[in-house]
Amino acid sequence: MKSVFDGVFRSGRKLFTMNMIRGYREYTRSTVSEGGKVYREWDPGKSKPAAAIMKGIKKFPLSRGSKVLYLGAASGATCSFFSDIIGEDGVIYAVEISERSVRDLNNTSEARGNIVPILADARKPEEYEWVEPVDIVFQDVASDDQAQILVRNAVKFLKKGGYAMIAIKSRSIDVTKPPREVYKDQLEIMEKKMKVLEKVELDPFEKDHLFVIMQMRT
Ligand SMILES: C[S@@+](CC[C@H](N)C(=O)[O-])C[C@H]1O[C@@H](n2cnc3c(N)ncnc32)[C@H](O)[C@@H]1O
Repeated sequence: MKSVFDGVFRSGRKLFTMNMIRGYREYTRSTVSEGGKVYREWDPGKSKPAAAIMKGIKKFPLSRGSKVLYLGAASGATCSFFSDIIGEDGVIYAVEISERSVRDLNNTSEARGNIVPILADARKPEEYEWVEPVDIVFQDVASDDQAQILVRNAVKFLKKGGYAMIAIKSRSIDVTKPPREVYKDQLEIMEKKMKVLEKVELDPFEKDHLFVIMQMRT
């Protein structure tokens, strides 16, 4: 098992996180035991940050103890891998608009211990303004105003020097435009407030998605 980023490992063509919760087997196809530790396979076909890592991003901002605001958590699949990476000292504030998904997210949260589920609309950060300042804002909501949602939340919650990450889904924004035109428009909105550090297209893991890592302009 080779370490590629803090808490992220690679073995052959597969990515893994170290299982923080003994016996936890959700959202993974396989586990590997090595040196007394158990690693959960993190499928890049099912999780966009894993796809971005497989596509060669140079820096992945999560680390042990990170505080994360996660927008568009669904049932908590990717959250569960973030949860392994940040460990017991970190926390994920996981915002999700669908009541049905939040029911599953509650189960993920109970099993993991470092995920706080929030039933809310990420367009309205005032609904969860009690959330503390965070090191990372991650956004995967697949709506037509993705860039605006990220900027609004980053301005409100990101600590100085913190990172914002987004997976832009071009077809949710404008199906009639070529993906690269959509990415350009979304980047323009975000670059008013943030500096782009890295961007990578997620094909073939996720068709027509761009993953972007940014920091606030100072
Ligand atoms: C692509 S899925 C997220 C998958 C998840 N990030 C993962 O990798 O496990 C997008 C999620 O965003 C949620 N969503 C869409 N609009 C939202 C909004 N305005 N606020 C919060 N969540 C939203 C959807 O209900 C859906 O669960």
